[in-house]
Amino acid sequence: MADRKATLTVEGLDKPIELPVYSGSAGPDVIDVRSLGAEGLFTYDPGFMATSSCQSAITYIDGGKGVLLHRGYPIEQLAKHSDFVELCYLLMFGELPDKAQYKDFAGRVRGHTMVHEQLANFFKGFRRDAHPMSILCGVVGGLAAFYHDHLDITKQEDREISAIRLIAKMPTIAAMSYKYNVGMPFNYPRNDLNYAENFLYMMFSNPCEDYEINPVFAKAMDRIFMLHADHEQNASTSTVRLAGSTGANPFACISAGIAALWGPAHGGANEAVLNMLDEIGDDSEENIQRFIDKAKDKNDPFKLMGFGHRVYRNFDPRAKVMKETCDEVLAQLGMADDPQLKIAKRLEQIALEDEYFIERKLYPNVDFYSGIILKAMGIPTNMFTVIFAVSRTIGWISHWHEMISDSYKISRPRQLYVGHTQRDYPAE
Ligand code: SDX
Repeated sequence: MADRKATLTVEGLDKPIELPVYSGSAGPDVIDVRSLGAEGLFTYDPGFMATSSCQSAITYIDGGKGVLLHRGYPIEQLAKHSDFVELCYLLMFGELPDKAQYKDFAGRVRGHTMVHEQLANFFKGFRRDAHPMSILCGVVGGLAAFYHDHLDITKQEDREISAIRLIAKMPTIAAMSYKYNVGMPFNYPRNDLNYAENFLYMMFSNPCEDYEINPVFAKAMDRIFMLHADHEQNASTSTVRLAGSTGANPFACISAGIAALWGPAHGGANEAVLNMLDEIGDDSEENIQRFIDKAKDKNDPFKLMGFGHRVYRNFDPRAKVMKETCDEVLAQLGMADDPQLKIAKRLEQIALEDEYFIERKLYPNVDFYSGIILKAMGIPTNMFTVIFAVSRTIGWISHWHEMISDSYKISRPRQLYVGHTQRDYPAE
């Protein structure tokens, strides 16, 4: 793969070090630094600002141009022409399914939407007011206890059935965590509904009356699932890959990914955006400017949630589609002048004209508008990151599958040690 070389000269070393340089099909070239260990050197890159952990063919992001491709297809085109189940197939297997493949895959997913009846007992261990993400973390990790028959990750069929089970069961477990929170009975999945419809049904139906699917909500839900599905080596996906590199079972790896996603700097930002809009309260100029100033103040920990991104130095293409969806859904609900939407739009407008944000290339990311749509659909704020996790499961498991299907080593970073050198225990 090496087509060029980098030469590293280090003061104190008697000869330069030659390192292979690889080019991918798109994006920056990489310098293979693996041989540095033998020279007694490590690289140093806290936060992995310029470090590739692997090679992958699943998703490509061009942060400068605001481009997001899934297996080469732009997210804007997928959001317009595809659906979440088709995107799951594409991310997992690398090509769009034909009609027969789509039918078979959708049927396999539908056949695994129920969870073992014993799993319902896991919920009883949680307080009713437990955050649904804590429930999701625990219950998904516990799934491994039910599938000893198919946990040989060296077998393609075991990897595939585990992926299907996770894609199928995440909405069921997510809806159960909501129902447990509000003290209502769990709903069994319905196989006559599509993926997004079934999730809304399990979330909002109750045994006492018929539940009618709102097609606007179902389409918006499917769109939100698509926009959160995968995003190359983000923090939670890297967590899943690292856990998977030890040979841990896929359910434990996804549980680790859920834990990493929960942080407000990552998937927890959608919940944090709504809390921030609540805190801002009204869209008066002085009020919004006060929060913009807080976000710019180095001594104030407040950040503009839903803004900025490690990779995008331009608009997050998902945020653009999400904003269009937000306008569509709220207009159809007669909520076009929703106060929080007004604050969000004004905040975006002022921030994008402010030198601080322009200089740092801070734009709205996927989380900035998603919460407003979810809230308009009646979904409580503490379920926003759960929905992100339901969607991102296909990204996590596709990366896990890509890694395990190839040759891989256990991930074990090194360090720059700055602690005490050896010293003796004080004599009596
Ligand atoms: C997701 O990686 C992915 O792909 C993630 C994700 C995915 O799909 O998996 O896209 C999902 O996590 C989206 C991001 C959601 N998080 C938020 O919206 C939280 C708010 N954003 C920030 O926390 C921040 O922008 C990050 C965490 C998203 C990115 O942080 P970086 O890349 O480490 O950048 P940084 O913190 O070094 O910021 C650079 C500068 C700093 O100022 P200076 O020190 O240069 O003066 O920009 C400032 C930061 O203080 N800055 C912000 C800001 N984000 C960055 N200032 C105010 N408000 C913000 N939101």
